[in-house]
Amino acid sequence: MRYQHRPYRHTVAASGFVQGAEKHAVDLGCGVGRDSLYLLGQGFHVCAIDRSSQALEKLVAASNGNQRLSVQAGCMAEANIKDAALIVASHSLYFVEPESFWPLWHRIRKALRKDGIFAGHILGDQDGWAAEGRVVSTVKKTEFHRIVEGFDVLDHREVIKPMPMAQSGREKLWHVHTCILRRRRFGGAANSV
Ligand SMILES: C[S@@+](CC[C@H](N)C(=O)[O-])C[C@H]1O[C@@H](n2cnc3c(N)ncnc32)[C@H](O)[C@@H]1O
Repeated sequence: MRYQHRPYRHTVAASGFVQGAEKHAVDLGCGVGRDSLYLLGQGFHVCAIDRSSQALEKLVAASNGNQRLSVQAGCMAEANIKDAALIVASHSLYFVEPESFWPLWHRIRKALRKDGIFAGHILGDQDGWAAEGRVVSTVKKTEFHRIVEGFDVLDHREVIKPMPMAQSGREKLWHVHTCILRRRRFGGAANSV
């Protein structure tokens, strides 16, 4: 199996944290469905969102008509998301316009049920794209508390190192936070567990 067809480790781990029988997941910036297809295989209902209709068509074809898959074409910042047990966003959130990033992050938190799980990538401000002047949404170390506010941190790995990009193979400095977060039942500061 090529790596693009394998689910991310954080998605596999996050799906194991989902409690209850109602397994509704949202995949933000799903692409051709690396995570969505895995979640469908695990019995989730998946709402897959991407601005690329072509990617969504490929996902629908690969799902073999799975009735638990629904797709939304458009910008994730405006997507209709609610009542999710799991929201995944793998290498996608940083593509939203910087002015849309924090409003989207608040919508993600609100769209998760209590005990709902977020799993995905957040770009740090030392990332090479930011230095090249590419418009991406990054989060400073001093702002990271805003990401985890209202969540328990189930896993958080921060990587800063040169690595190749999936599409072009060109190396760039990546500064990526891979997070698995659980929405807290009650308000209050974030906890590490
Ligand atoms: C690097 S790919 C990641 C795809 C998939 N999550 C994965 O990890 O294999 C980024 C995806 O985000 C989508 N995307 C970028 N900006 C978006 C936006 N504002 N709204 C919805 N999708 C977006 C792109 O079309 C692309 O499919």
